[in-house]
Order: sequence, then C-alpha cells, then structure tokens
Amino acid sequence: MVGANTAFDADVIRRDFPVLAQQIDGKPLVYLDSANTSQKPNLVIDTMAKFMRESYAPINRSAYTLAANATELYEGARNAVAKFINANNSREIVFTKNATEALNLIVHSWGRANLQRGDVVLLTHMEHHANIVPWQMLQQERGIELRWVPLTSDYQLDLSSLPTLLLGAKAFSFTSMSNVLGTINPVEKLCSAAHAAGAIAIVDACQSVPHSPTDVQALGADFAMFSSHKMCGPSGLGVLWGREALLEAMPPFMGGGNMISEVRLDGFKCAELPAKFEAGTPAIAEVIGLGAAVEYLTSVGMSNIRQHEIAMSSYVLEMLTGRFGDDITIHGPRNPELRGATFSFAFRGIHPHDLSQVLDQSNVCVRAGHHCAKPLMKIIGANATARASFYLYNTTADADALADALDSASDIF
Ligand code: ALA
Repeated sequence: MVGANTAFDADVIRRDFPVLAQQIDGKPLVYLDSANTSQKPNLVIDTMAKFMRESYAPINRSAYTLAANATELYEGARNAVAKFINANNSREIVFTKNATEALNLIVHSWGRANLQRGDVVLLTHMEHHANIVPWQMLQQERGIELRWVPLTSDYQLDLSSLPTLLLGAKAFSFTSMSNVLGTINPVEKLCSAAHAAGAIAIVDACQSVPHSPTDVQALGADFAMFSSHKMCGPSGLGVLWGREALLEAMPPFMGGGNMISEVRLDGFKCAELPAKFEAGTPAIAEVIGLGAAVEYLTSVGMSNIRQHEIAMSSYVLEMLTGRFGDDITIHGPRNPELRGATFSFAFRGIHPHDLSQVLDQSNVCVRAGHHCAKPLMKIIGANATARASFYLYNTTADADALADALDSASDIF
C-alpha cells in the first residue's frame, strides 16, 4: 500500500484496487464514474471480509467478548472518521444509510424544530436533488420560503446578491462541490456569510470529502454530510457531522432500538449522542469498512489526492479541447484550481445515453443523464450530459482512452 510519505503515483495506487486490474474482452477497464461511486481498495475489502469471517457480532447490546470487540471496532471507525474531518469529538459523527438520509435527517429534525411558515432557507442552483427535495417537502408541509443562489456564466455561484438573499434566512444549505459542473464552492466564505445573517450553514460535502482535506471546524460549518461509497468505502452508509450543541438540541429522527435510554408505556427518553440518531441495528461491517477507507486515504494523503486531481483536471481540459475543439462543450470552470476532476460534457450532438453506450464498448465507464440535478441541467440548457469523473486511481492513460473512445463514437454516429 502506498504511504503518505511515498511520492504519489496513480499507477502504483491502481494496484490497490483489484477491480481495475481486470480486462473485459481483452481491453482494460477505464473507470471514470467515481463522482457516482468509487472503487474499493484491498484494505477495505480485506478489513470487511476479516471482520465478517472472524469478529462479526452485534454492537452495543451484548456483554459477551465477541460483541464487545465488534463494538470497539465500530466505535474505532467513528473516531477515525471524526479525526479525518477534524470534528471536535466523535459524538458529533452520526452514521446514516447514506448522505441523502443525512440531509433528510437535518430537514426532518432540525427543520421541523426550527422552521415555521415564512421562514427562509437559502439553497443554490447547483444542488443535488438530495439537497432540494427534502426542503421542498418541508415547504409543502410548513410553507417555508426557498431562495436560490444563481450561477455566473463561468459556472460559479453568483454571490453578488448573497447578503440580500440571506436576509432573514434561518439556514443556508449548499454543496461544497457540484457533482455536475465540478465547481468547488468557497465553503468558508459561505459559512461566514450565513452566520453573519443569523443562519446556520449546512454543507453537502459528498463531492469534496473524498477528494481534498476537510476540516469542518476551520470551515465554520454547522452540519456537513458525505457518503462512504464515494470515498473508497462501502455503500449503504453515510456520515452526518453536526456541532454537538445543535445535535443535542434536535429531536430524534427515527424511533426504535438503540436511540433510547428509557421507554415506558407513557413515553421515552432519548439516548445520548450519537446513538440518539442511530435507531436500529446499523451497518456494522460497512462502518468498519469506512474506517479502513479513512485509513487508506490518510495513508495516501488527502493533499496528494487533491494535487493529483488538479493535475488531472489540467490535462483533461487541455487534451479534450485541444483534440475536439468546438465539438466538445464542457459544462464547468476552466481553472483547475477552482474545480474537481468531474467533467460533464456534450459531444458532437450525440445523445449522452448513446454516447455512454458506445464508450462502454471500449470499457470506458461514464455516467449519462441528469445526475440527480434536474434544476441545474435546465439552467445550463441541457436535458442530460455525459460525465467523466476522475479519482486517485485514474491516470492520463484513462483520459486518453476516453478521448479515443469519443473518436470511435463519432465514427458510429
Ligand atoms: N450523486 C451521485 C452522482 O452524482 C450519485 O452520480
């Protein structure tokens, strides 16, 4: 396994990911869909398999040694996640089914406890459906007002009217990086602006936590959420981080076992954090797998990953525009420092779904569609795009393979 002190080399990193070693019909796999879900390194696969083979047991509920050991591993992973994002302590880390559930938890628990008819929540035009629809559900139920930060022509957030948009707002909920455009937002600045207006700041960090160092305290956020499966961990698991005082003050989300300290016929008392928000049996092996993913990413070095992706962005932008000129439209910032290595594009008028099928003939895996961001697609004037997204294991050879496959698509259409 590569270590943080070893020079970063994506060709070496690739060897940690067994799925990338395979060939399909004699051709290598070119996996360019990591914004959707990432591949898994041996450390994660082996840690989960070992746990399930040797140590699997319930957590928190039983006095026997096997269960005590499983609980220790599970809580060890929580500590690792807390450290990874510099949470104040591990009580601030809540495990959920996915990041979508984490956002729903915030809207359901914080939103219903704090928002009344007419209260304002500010969102942006580049949000994923997971940061739109739960608020719209609350809008239908409570009559809250939703406002939107628009985009500039170069795919940034247009912050010129931010103070006005934030007037009277109780929450500003925004993505740290667009899953469509690749735009990286100025999270610290947005959190400060929210606080200056008396609003809390909620950061959908799904697309940034896997790709760059994260310090939730330095960002000044109040809540942040991200997915295990996009950061080399297993699926079925999301992370909600929240400031302890806010989580303490919130009512529970789901009721059931584990989230209570007392239940009588006439009522119940909540458990302490974070159990209060973890009703039922959690994804035990998956949490332990996420702990291994955090260990793996830390050993590679999050700054190394960010630097690699800046270099990849630079290469991809220059290579694709150099090779295809006006035949390709990339919907996203041109400056590699302002973006992640996620590229949504239109190519020679070929429908993105057709394009992705033809790319698949070269084993090039890209996502095609609206990327769960339909309002944004409408704003950028596209029904759908193809999207190639790069991660720590992708190389310039993958980018070249994408371009070669695009060329062959032109031959077919
Ligand atoms: N939100 C994920 C994506 O962008 C699923 O593909």
